[in-house]
Amino acid sequence: MNTSEQVLDFRSDTFTKPGDGMRQAMAQAQVGDDVFGEDPTVFELEHRTAELFGRQAALFVPSGTMANLIGLALHCQRGHEVIMERRTHSFAHEVGGGSALLGVLFHQLDNPQGYLSISDVKRALRPIDIHAPISRLLVVENTANLCGGKIVPIDHLRGLRRFTQEKGLKLHLDGARIWNASVKSGVALSEWGQEADSLSCCLSKGLGCPVGSLIIGNEEDMQRARWLRKMLGGGMRQAGVLAACGLYALDHHIDRLVEDHAMASELAEGLSQILDDRFHVERPDTNILIINTDSAKSTETTVATWKKAGILCLGLGDTTIRLVTHLDLPKDAATDALRRIRKLA
Ligand SMILES: Cc1ncc(COP(=O)(O)O)c(C=O)c1O
Repeated sequence: MNTSEQVLDFRSDTFTKPGDGMRQAMAQAQVGDDVFGEDPTVFELEHRTAELFGRQAALFVPSGTMANLIGLALHCQRGHEVIMERRTHSFAHEVGGGSALLGVLFHQLDNPQGYLSISDVKRALRPIDIHAPISRLLVVENTANLCGGKIVPIDHLRGLRRFTQEKGLKLHLDGARIWNASVKSGVALSEWGQEADSLSCCLSKGLGCPVGSLIIGNEEDMQRARWLRKMLGGGMRQAGVLAACGLYALDHHIDRLVEDHAMASELAEGLSQILDDRFHVERPDTNILIINTDSAKSTETTVATWKKAGILCLGLGDTTIRLVTHLDLPKDAATDALRRIRKLA
């Protein structure tokens, strides 16, 4: 790498650092003890988020993992079964917290499109039988991270929701990147908000906040969620300094996600021309680009060679490379990365 060249960090949209505007908002935030319900900035963030999603209430929590865990706890008792696609974050990357802490069973199915169909869910449903666990909850992730930021279309989600209601199941939506789904599809956050019993969203991904997620739902569930958050050690005191970042991001960092999506598309197009047939570059729906490789060696070598050229990305498993675009990348990051990779080729 030419030492005058900037490192282009495509590892994740979680690597962003708060910029000047966000830091000013933190410095000016009114705060209080939020465990006592006295932090006005947290209160404002929760109210505004609930309103954006067209729901009664929201609760600020430290992480997407905690928001999803609370989502499971709201709907399930020990021994209940949760249905999801195998690559769903709450199964694949949340340390099995649902099993370890809540005693729920994960029932995972594969669907190459990255999200389950109604017939998949039908297949997973247990019979009402004394020998079987009770099917209780469907988790849908939107956008689907490990499936390349894939959007679950709103009509598909509506179909799943109707089906779960008919069958007496609840639906939790992991909306860590629901902002990306909304901006790309043009479907308002309030519409997504109607299609789940509870949903989570993250401020610390594409919206560029250092910390924070919310769980959203009806008033009664969010009162329970408050207790669960405290039980899990997630009660925060003067959290207004963090909530202020969230409010800043809602004002300044949602509409600009179109830029991240355009950058991911530019990268995909360029890479599919440059890379040889050991690689298959998927077309990104939003800000996450997946490249499938023919072997662990191709994955490892590519990640290492690009790193030397100042391009950081992640090898996920043996045959997958992931690049994520976000607001901390320079505007010409895709063009610049493609230029450097062309040079290597
Ligand atoms: C889809 C999805 N859900 C949940 C999470 C968990 O968020 P956190 O890292 O804040 O626990 C992530 C994190 O990357 C994610 O991608």
